[in-house]
Amino acid sequence: MTVLDHDVVADQLKNAPTKNEKVLSFVSRIATLTTPDEIVWIDGSEGQRDLITQQLVDAGTLVRLTGTKDSYYAASDPEDVARVEDRTYICSVDEKDAGALNNWVAPAEMKETLNGLFDGSMRGRTMYVIPFVMGLAEADQPMFGIEVTDSPYVVLSMLIMARSGKYALDAIDAQDADFVECVHSVGAPLAEGEADVAWPNNSTKYITHFPEERSIWSFGSGYGGNALLGKKCYALRIASAIAHDEGWLAEHMLILKLTNPEGQVKYIAAAFPSACGKTNLAMIEPTIPGWKAETLGDDIAWMRFGEDGQLYAVNPEFGLFGVAPGTGYSTNPTAMHAIEAGGNIFTNVALTDDGDVWWEGKTDEKPAHLTDWRGNDWTPDSETPAAHPNSRFCTPIANVPTLAPEWQNPNGVPISAILFGGRRKTTMPLVTETRDWNHGVFMGSVLSSETTAAATGAVGVVRRDPMAMRPFIGYNVGDYLQHWLNIGQTEGAKLPKIFYVNWFRRDDDNSFLWPGFSENSRVLKWVFERVAGTADAVESPLGFTPAEGALDTEGLDFTAEQLRKALAIKPEEWEAELASIEEWYAELGDSVPAELRAEVDSLRERLGLA
Ligand code: GTP
Ligand code: MN
Ligand code: MN
Repeated sequence: MTVLDHDVVADQLKNAPTKNEKVLSFVSRIATLTTPDEIVWIDGSEGQRDLITQQLVDAGTLVRLTGTKDSYYAASDPEDVARVEDRTYICSVDEKDAGALNNWVAPAEMKETLNGLFDGSMRGRTMYVIPFVMGLAEADQPMFGIEVTDSPYVVLSMLIMARSGKYALDAIDAQDADFVECVHSVGAPLAEGEADVAWPNNSTKYITHFPEERSIWSFGSGYGGNALLGKKCYALRIASAIAHDEGWLAEHMLILKLTNPEGQVKYIAAAFPSACGKTNLAMIEPTIPGWKAETLGDDIAWMRFGEDGQLYAVNPEFGLFGVAPGTGYSTNPTAMHAIEAGGNIFTNVALTDDGDVWWEGKTDEKPAHLTDWRGNDWTPDSETPAAHPNSRFCTPIANVPTLAPEWQNPNGVPISAILFGGRRKTTMPLVTETRDWNHGVFMGSVLSSETTAAATGAVGVVRRDPMAMRPFIGYNVGDYLQHWLNIGQTEGAKLPKIFYVNWFRRDDDNSFLWPGFSENSRVLKWVFERVAGTADAVESPLGFTPAEGALDTEGLDFTAEQLRKALAIKPEEWEAELASIEEWYAELGDSVPAELRAEVDSLRERLGLA
């Protein structure tokens, strides 16, 4: 008899490293429901990590690499490779609080479904208890969570991505703190004597959030954003709902520190949709002499007002979970150096014959032979990519050589500028400074990115992605936009300036108009100097655009004509854009704040299209 009954649960909990009633009752409740064979408390020690790692190597889930220090390779089930937005739910009490962009099911109904799915779901497995804190336990407002999971792969990944283990549990106990309940099961119970597979999961998947209860239940997937519940589920969906209630912001943003040649420092945050360059910009190596950039975060920023009225940003994460393909020595050498430092888990990349990993874009030259992410032989002649397009590297952020020392500031750094941007072939200029906070919020609310490559000459399929948060707003998008406007009304606020950027605009011959990557430091310089009040701008219908000579192109093989094209605001493009913006607002319906609708009208007037 391996199934836990109540007495067995009580017995297992006798050895728990805490006497905290809230913690014990949560763990006991989930163990009673899911009936694991055993309960293991994650303390974050090296010994425990090594033990779990060895178990996963023995089980065939992980391959120990010889080519990169202390690093492992995992291949998922080919059906379990990405976030599942259509299986993601915001179960608010009121349907209208989930809003136009979320799937909704009433909490009681979803609980019934989940109770059925989780009933006995950990049978034959170990249940791990992972106490964690997003950000630092020493923050003014520390944000704790406890994830229970039956996936040891999730345990090892959480140890990289969030400050986890004894440090977090001790702080929860010492502060008698609340924590977000995070419940995860791969949904693959094992019968007595049944052999396990390398990547257990279930074809039924549910990623569910209860914003009022501040709890997360995830079933059926072992993959990244579905299973590492501290990241998208907590730090964005649940945290955005908390932030709405408490007057702060939880955003899909990188955080960057910039120092000019005079030694002045400014911090900026930037929101770009997935695969639009956050991790790249967060690790930029400036090409302008004397300028320095340092990394603070590459995916999530929590911003709260400090006593001085400035917004202070914290990166709640402890690691990087970056898209591997396209990350290479020529595009993001900083990320490559971080990876070289070791301690990585790679998922769904390709294996080299000498015990290392490879993905498209890692090196310019393709290896002659690989084992692809599906386990098949691969050569440069193969028709499918060696690494899955969403394959990832999971790497401790402490490895990043450009990491700014402020990453350990419990309450973050003051933000001077916020950048919004997406992938647009046309219409959106390289950089524009918005007129004021509301206008900046408007530009964020219509943030857009092309999802598919267009036929020659035609415009790509544009998806609106407000503040790059479309899949991550844990409540009603209209309330979210209103919340951004309200932040601007906060008494005594010293607000950051808001800019809109587009590295992806194309020339008539379809080539990129702007060299991008490390040359984006030139745009950052202008942003820095606008904030400092030292760079010139001219007014445009979209706000302010760099005056002639204000954007530093020295040493760059770039003509004045190219720059003019990159910065251009073309009325014919904007006529179509305004129609598309109005369609988007119509899709969101009544929830769009009147102030933002008014911004559409004034933009139309400024463009002379009224
Ligand atoms: P998530 O981690 O999924 O949220 O995405 P991310 O925003 O971190 O995206 P990432 O930095 O991984 O985006 C990489 C993609 O953007 C690659 O295809 C890069 O080639 C491309 N990219 C990044 N910066 C630039 C740039 O300045 N110019 C151009 N043309 N492409 C860029
Ligand atoms: Mn992201
Ligand atoms: Mn990223």
